[in-house]
Amino acid sequence: MAVLDKLTSQEAIELENKYGAHNYHPLPVVLSRGEGVYVWDAEGKKYYDFLSAYSAVNQGHCHQKIVDAMVSQAKTLTLTSRAFYNDMLGKYEKFATDLFGFDKLLPMNTGAEAVETALKLARKWAYEVKGIDENKAEIIVCENNFHGRTTTIISFSNDPVAKKNFGPYTKGFIKIEYDNLQELQEALENNPNVAAFLVEPIQGEAGVYVPSEGYLKAAKKLCEDYNVLFIADEVQTGIARTGKMLAVDHEDVQPDVLILGKALSGGAYPVSAVLANDTIMNVIKPGNHGSTFGGNPIASAVAIAALNVVADEKLAENANKLGEIFRAELTEFCKNNHLVESVRGKGLLNAILINDSEDSSTAWDICIKLRDNGLLAKPTHGNIIRFAPPLVMNEEQLKDCISIIKKTITEFN
Ligand SMILES: Cc1ncc(COP(=O)(O)O)c(C=O)c1O
Repeated sequence: MAVLDKLTSQEAIELENKYGAHNYHPLPVVLSRGEGVYVWDAEGKKYYDFLSAYSAVNQGHCHQKIVDAMVSQAKTLTLTSRAFYNDMLGKYEKFATDLFGFDKLLPMNTGAEAVETALKLARKWAYEVKGIDENKAEIIVCENNFHGRTTTIISFSNDPVAKKNFGPYTKGFIKIEYDNLQELQEALENNPNVAAFLVEPIQGEAGVYVPSEGYLKAAKKLCEDYNVLFIADEVQTGIARTGKMLAVDHEDVQPDVLILGKALSGGAYPVSAVLANDTIMNVIKPGNHGSTFGGNPIASAVAIAALNVVADEKLAENANKLGEIFRAELTEFCKNNHLVESVRGKGLLNAILINDSEDSSTAWDICIKLRDNGLLAKPTHGNIIRFAPPLVMNEEQLKDCISIIKKTITEFN
């Protein structure tokens, strides 16, 4: 079979099932093209993408400006490794640090790598700046967190599917309830060894849990009081998804360490980053950390283009406006529909809670029907369906999607 031979959906699924590890359970649809808010399957059927590759494709599929930047850079210089300087990385670092208000950026590729980077950074800062005794540093995390799937990250996950039989686990983490300031205070109070508090401003993967208003601001203040780094994992919530450039911007919080990924490249290329000020980032010295691909010229060019698109097309403002419409319409719909218990979210990161047991297949079955009706979404945990379309969607398209969702759920009843 030649690489360019066209496959039917069935053939593509069979190949993945036979030759690929079964580490995902995809919805049965095979995508072969994308443009803006739309994707097409191998047979040419068109769908609204209501997942955006888990909030990576915020700028829409195959955005012309991002693709142009990528192609142009790919024809010029792709990878040098960090053994040498390249003439794109510095430009990108200046651009991004100016935009987000930090002194420095450490470039990586995937979200999980950036989280790992932030954890290492926090520990080294704890020993060398805060003065914690060697190997004693602890990092506070939240229950039901999702920060990726490396060995260290799953060590502090409480999802048995991600965790079981991957031990022994990395030590040094304290788990507290999300959105609980009392527990954070207690964890900080009697423990001089705390280096950092790692938090998702909205817990996306867990089912789009939005914390109480003021939680992030108060948590940041507590961290300041105890000389503990506030690390915001904005891999999913960042880059305009929630109606502001960062979700912490809703509460005017400047994290000590910011983790970005996914839409930092508009989904065109794996690009992630950790940002911090010099007092923190300067603990990292040559050889302490790195990645062959991190900070490569294509990634740098793509990230600049992707961030420019967010500003030029006012995607945060659009996400904010469309999110209000989406939640208002679905909240109204919930009142007369027993299958949908509630809708929650911020900007265009939303979820509906299906009124059925956690282990029922109802959310999955609804997603299959949504697919049949031309809209692609996926359950997060149990009976929660996440809705996260590309932020380039317009109001007319959103209203069309809302009709599809309502119609599908009504038919399902
Ligand atoms: C908050 C958060 N952090 C980290 C990650 C991991 O990113 P990646 O899948 O690129 O490793 C994700 C992925 O969904 C995420 O939502």
